[in-house]
Amino acid sequence: MDLNKNIHLFVSLACLCILSFSISHVVCSPFAGKPVLDPVLLKICGATENPTLCANSVLPLLHGPVDLVNVLKSEIDATIKEASIILKQITKMNNTATSKEVKSALESCQQMYRDAIDNLKETKTFAEARNAVDVINKLSGVASCYSTCDDSFADFQLQSPLNTQNFNWFIQILLSLGNLLK
Ligand SMILES: *[C@@H]1O[C@H](CO)[C@@H](O)[C@H](O)[C@H]1NC(C)=O
Repeated sequence: MDLNKNIHLFVSLACLCILSFSISHVVCSPFAGKPVLDPVLLKICGATENPTLCANSVLPLLHGPVDLVNVLKSEIDATIKEASIILKQITKMNNTATSKEVKSALESCQQMYRDAIDNLKETKTFAEARNAVDVINKLSGVASCYSTCDDSFADFQLQSPLNTQNFNWFIQILLSLGNLLK
């Protein structure tokens, strides 16, 4: 009985070690699964506030040569995806929300993230034209959108229940990349 328990514990621990090894391996390497670390991507993302998130989000969406415009365009796509995820959260929360205040705040946030997606699509066109000024102007508009969404909850002394951390990081990264265009 005790021996069985010990064997079981040993097997569990061994599995746990293998599991944590593979997890840490994936988490620790932002370029997991890619055979070569691209020095240009490292350099571009290294100039942003969150190089790891930048590289991790750009890499799966990157098409064509690794250059500033393509990295910027891929990060815009990642941000649009993130905004769509937040819009899904909003719909889900609205379906279960009972408070009128929460529903009203969610309504404003929905409008803001929809606008953000439209503005990000326009930003992509400006990025293709290497128009740094308009890229930064558009992004600054999008940046003000998420604080307005938080404010619409704060107006009712509520904290936003939306998980917008990645979106906020993406905007910071995009602003850094936009500044590199200058
Ligand atoms: C929330 O649901 C109501 C219906 O209960 C709907 O009128 C409103 O547009 C919805 N708002 C959002 C943000 O989905």
